[in-house]
Parts: sequence; structure tokens; C-alpha cells
Amino acid sequence: MRRTAPAALLAVALAAGLLAGCGGSGSGDVNARLAVSSAYMPQPVSASMAAGFLTIVNDGGAKDELTSVTSDIAGDVTVHETVGGAMREVQRLTVPAHGRLVLASGGNHLMFEDLKRRPRQGQTVAVELHFAASGPVTVEMPVKPATYTPATGH
Ligand code: CU
Repeated sequence: MRRTAPAALLAVALAAGLLAGCGGSGSGDVNARLAVSSAYMPQPVSASMAAGFLTIVNDGGAKDELTSVTSDIAGDVTVHETVGGAMREVQRLTVPAHGRLVLASGGNHLMFEDLKRRPRQGQTVAVELHFAASGPVTVEMPVKPATYTPATGH
């Protein structure tokens, strides 16, 4: 666990002697605590481009930001949002404290370009998520049928 805490906070904690019993619990609420669920990639219909969806849940008391994504199957992975039916690339998406960031069909999504191989249904695609504060998170994203939509729907 590599968590960076502001130096001032550390100084206060030291002054109060709180670090003496620091086992990692209790102080966690000043950090984001991220977990990824519902990740999938619809089997791409294009040989060069694919989309990916997932949900990032933050149980911590601080927000974080998804800043970049990498994958060994794609030369480039970008984060897109959909506004008024048109998608555009964004530099970061916020994962709110005690909240979630949802990437779902018709909304925010990952865009894989310059594919090195074409993912097939039943395979998995490894994706590494990079955040402003938290360490990187690796996700094994299952490849679903091209028409797949999760039960929780659109
Ligand atoms: Cu897109």
C-alpha cells in the first residue's frame, strides 16, 4: 500500500502520537480506497478499436481521479465521456469520496485504439488503471459478446 498523506497531516498525527498504534485501520478515511467491479469489453466489431466498461467504487473518505489507462493489447487507451450523444476524450474522471465512478454503455467509457490483437469473446484483457492519488489497479476485463449489456442495464 503506497498512500501519500499530506506532510502537515503526518506532522499532526506524529504530534498527537497517533502513529504509535497505526495498523492501517482508523486512519484510512483520509485516503481513497478503490475497488473495481463490473468490468467487461464487448467483443470489438472493428479490428482496430474496442470499448471497455467498469465501475470504480471508492470506500474511502477522499476523492481520487482516474488519470490514465494502459493495456498491453492496445497502443493507446483513452478515457471518454459522452455528452449529448457525442463522445469526447477527457484527461481525468473523478471517483468521489464514498462514491463511485461508472463507465457504462452510452456514458463514460474506455477506448482502446491501435489494437495489437483482436479480443475474442471468452478471453480476458488486462488493463491497468492509473490514479492521481492511489497506486495503479490492474483489472482482468472479460470479453463479452458484442451485443452484451449488463443486467443492471442502460
Ligand atoms: Cu469513445
